[in-house]
Amino acid sequence: MHVNVADQPAFGEAIATRLAELAALSDEPGRLTRLYLGPAHRRATDLVAYWMREAGMSVRIDPLASVVGRYEARDGGGKTLLIGSHIDSVRNAGRFDGPLGVVTAIDVVKAAFKSGKRFPFAIEVIAFGDEEGVRFASTLSGSRALAGTFDEKALDELDGNTISRREALTAFGCDPRHVAAEKREPERTIGYVEVHIEQGPVLEQQGLPLGIVTAIDGVTRGIVDVEGIAGHAGTVPMAMRHDALTAAAEMVLAVEQRARAQPNLVATIGKLDVPRSAPNTIPGRVRFTLDIRSPVDAERTQAVEDIKAVIATVARRRGVLQRFTPGHQAPAAFCDERLSAQLAAAAEACGATPKRMPSGAGHDAMAFYKIIPFAMLFVRCRGGISHNPDEFASAADIDLAAHALANFLDRIAA
Ligand code: GLV
Ligand code: MN
Ligand code: MN
Repeated sequence: MHVNVADQPAFGEAIATRLAELAALSDEPGRLTRLYLGPAHRRATDLVAYWMREAGMSVRIDPLASVVGRYEARDGGGKTLLIGSHIDSVRNAGRFDGPLGVVTAIDVVKAAFKSGKRFPFAIEVIAFGDEEGVRFASTLSGSRALAGTFDEKALDELDGNTISRREALTAFGCDPRHVAAEKREPERTIGYVEVHIEQGPVLEQQGLPLGIVTAIDGVTRGIVDVEGIAGHAGTVPMAMRHDALTAAAEMVLAVEQRARAQPNLVATIGKLDVPRSAPNTIPGRVRFTLDIRSPVDAERTQAVEDIKAVIATVARRRGVLQRFTPGHQAPAAFCDERLSAQLAAAAEACGATPKRMPSGAGHDAMAFYKIIPFAMLFVRCRGGISHNPDEFASAADIDLAAHALANFLDRIAA
């Protein structure tokens, strides 16, 4: 079943154009920042819903603000295939991380719709809104709802402005009381597929446009609060200080040292706040985030324990208090062999030699681990740069990914 891509509808440029349209929807002028349930997420939701309708899908916004577009099966019955990714972003983001998978899925369904093609299964294209976990402590709420593992306690989490997730959802027009009804029955679900930019340099280094993900690293996030004693920068002798920031600095370097000691383990302090700070005040409080990942769950959990211990040691020695508050957690998640093989065969049929590779980045797909089989298609990323406005995937590579996805649908149908 070899496909001559040149004879097929061109996807790449159209998808790139839609990604530019979405990138213009931002909470901040001059850069792309689209946080979960914020004003730009609202506008992106409406735009994606419009595109889905244009592609022949019926559309609804679910109780956690995921946009769900449904393309009915040929005979109206059958199982459902889920295809998704996310439309929230980090602060000062690139335009491909998340939206690439959503828009590619919409355009592939649209091509089927325009040619009058239906499948023996329904397709649900889903634009999740809570993948990056920038606004609230936990994340993947939309995908976890579909997996049936959403923890209602997350509704009480507060953002930086002390707005609860529940309040933000209600203001968005969602009713979080109905989350349980979103659980997809595994027996009625073929699987979940996600197209995503690689966000790393491996495909580019190897000169390959596409990759097939084997597994997604597990992750532990948390927040560390350090409390010292604020004081006058001119009057308190160095030896008598309880400086929360210098303590935090030592903790940050200890985290880096622990992560460097273990191959394949990564640890990041991506955010550090010094509240009520001033040039002439010894910092009394610091709050920083921790994000620790590994392909091996036991190595990650051991590293988390070691890091908590070294933070406590630094705090004791420096006479400050510290508290660790756990946040988002997810185990390493392995992709389904059968779906991955079909996706690889589809990519090969379109002329690619996809590389099998792990994902260091997290994805909505991981929420389905051990519940609904999932597979992921990676698209080459220029310079391996992501979570950065310079993130880029070429229209040619996107085109190939879209053809591979279309071919995958035909294989599943067969
Ligand atoms: C999402 O980009 C994540 O891996 O945190
Ligand atoms: Mn992503
Ligand atoms: Mn991301």
